[in-house]
Amino acid sequence: MTKLDLAKIAPVVSAAEVNGLAARVAEAQKALEEGTCPGNDFLGWLHLPSSITADFLSEVKAVAATLRQECDAVVVAGIGGSYLGAKAVIEALSNSFQWLLNDGKNPVILFAGNNISEDYLCELTSYLKGKKFGVINISKSGTTTETALAFRLLKKQCEEQMGKETAKKVIVAITDAKRGAARTCADKEGYKSFIIPDNVGGRFSVLTPVGLLPIAVAGFDIDQLVKGAQDMEKTAALPLAENPAAQYAAARYTLYTKGKKIEILANYQPKLHFMAEWWKQLFGESEGKDKKGIYPASVDLTTDLHSMGQWIQDGERTIFETVISVENPEHKMLFPSDEENLDGLNFLAGKRVDEVNKMAELGTQLAHVDGGVPNIRIAIERLDAYHLGQLIYFFEKACGIHCQLLGVNAFNQPGVEAYKKNMFALLGKPGYEQETLTIKARL
Ligand code: PA5
Repeated sequence: MTKLDLAKIAPVVSAAEVNGLAARVAEAQKALEEGTCPGNDFLGWLHLPSSITADFLSEVKAVAATLRQECDAVVVAGIGGSYLGAKAVIEALSNSFQWLLNDGKNPVILFAGNNISEDYLCELTSYLKGKKFGVINISKSGTTTETALAFRLLKKQCEEQMGKETAKKVIVAITDAKRGAARTCADKEGYKSFIIPDNVGGRFSVLTPVGLLPIAVAGFDIDQLVKGAQDMEKTAALPLAENPAAQYAAARYTLYTKGKKIEILANYQPKLHFMAEWWKQLFGESEGKDKKGIYPASVDLTTDLHSMGQWIQDGERTIFETVISVENPEHKMLFPSDEENLDGLNFLAGKRVDEVNKMAELGTQLAHVDGGVPNIRIAIERLDAYHLGQLIYFFEKACGIHCQLLGVNAFNQPGVEAYKKNMFALLGKPGYEQETLTIKARL
C-alpha cells in the first residue's frame, strides 16, 4: 500500500496539529460522501473505481485490441484532463526509449490537441504520412479549440490514407453522451464511442475511458490499474488516523495556513515527469480559486538539483516538498569500477545504481529540511499499473478533502474561460463582436 511519511514536516507542523484536523476531515469526507459540498454534480469520481465492472473493462480492451491490430501509431487528441492522466500512466509504465524500440509489439502512442503550435501539428502530420494510424478523440465538451483543430487535421489525413471505411474502425470518440461536436461527429460517422460520465470532471477522469482506452492501447494492464484504485478507494474512506490520503490533505492544509504556499512535487524517476503534470492540473485547477490555493510545482530529481536545487535549498521559504519515492526499480544495474578512477568514484563500484539514487534522495531530504523546507514522502513499492492506480486515487481523494478544508469548490474551473474569451474576441468569432471591439481598443 502507498505509504505516507510526515515525520519531516515536524519543524513546521506537528503530528498533533495534523491529527487535530480529524473532525474537520471527517466533515469533509461526509460532505463528499453525502454530496453536500460545492460542485456536488461532479462527485462521480468518488466511487468510480469500485463501480467499474469486468464487462466494461472487456469492452475497453476489445476496442484497444482493434486499434493495436490495425495501427502502427495511435494519436490521442485531448487537452488538460482529457490527456494528462493517460500520458502520465503511459509514460510511467513505458520503456524510457519506447519510441526508438520499434519492436512492432505496440503502436506508437502520440498526443495532440493539447497545443495550437503550427510546427507541432505540421511535424506530427508529416510523421504520420504513409503510416497506418488511428485517433482517439477525447473531449468532454466537444468544443475545445486545441482538440477540435487537431481532430480536423487527423480525421482528414486518416480517411485519406486509410480510406473512409477503415477510418471508421480506427477513429474512436470519448465524449459526452449527447452534447458537443465530438458526439455529433461520432454519431454521424458511425465511430465507436465511449461516454465520459456527466458527473466526472476532466481532471478526475483518468479511470474512465479517457485514460483507460489509451493506456490499454499502449499495452498496459488496466485491470491492475483499476484494482489499485479500488484498494485505495477503501483505505481513503477511513478516518484520518488510518487514511494516508486524508493525512496528506490535512498536512498540506496545515502547511498552507503556516505560509507554505507552494508545494513542489519531486520524483527520482524521470518516468514520473508526467505524473507530476497530471498532479499539477488536479490540484491547481481544483483549488486555485477565490484567491486561495497552494501553487503546485514540480521537479525531476536529481536532474533539477542542478538547476532548481539552489532555489529550493536557499530561496524564499514559502515552499514545502512532497517526494514520490519508488522503492524498487524494475531493473538491476551496478555502479561500474574503473581502473583509472579519475572521477574518484570507485568507492561506489559494485553498489546498485538505485542505492546511490536512494542516498541522493535521503541526502536531499535532510538538506532541504535543514534549509527550512518541510518534506512529505509518499512511497510506492514499484512503478507498475497497480501502484499507479493507488497513487491516482490517493491524490484524487486528498484533493477532494483538501478543497473542502480550504473552502473552495474543487470541481469547477471558471478561471479557464478568461483566455478563451479573449482569444475568440481577438480572432473575431461570430457572437463576440462587442468583446472584439473592447479588446482591440486595449491593444
Ligand atoms: O479538468 C478539466 O475539466 C479540464 O482540464 C478539461 O479536461 C480540459 O479543458 C479539456 O476539456 P474537454 O474535455 O471538454 O475538451
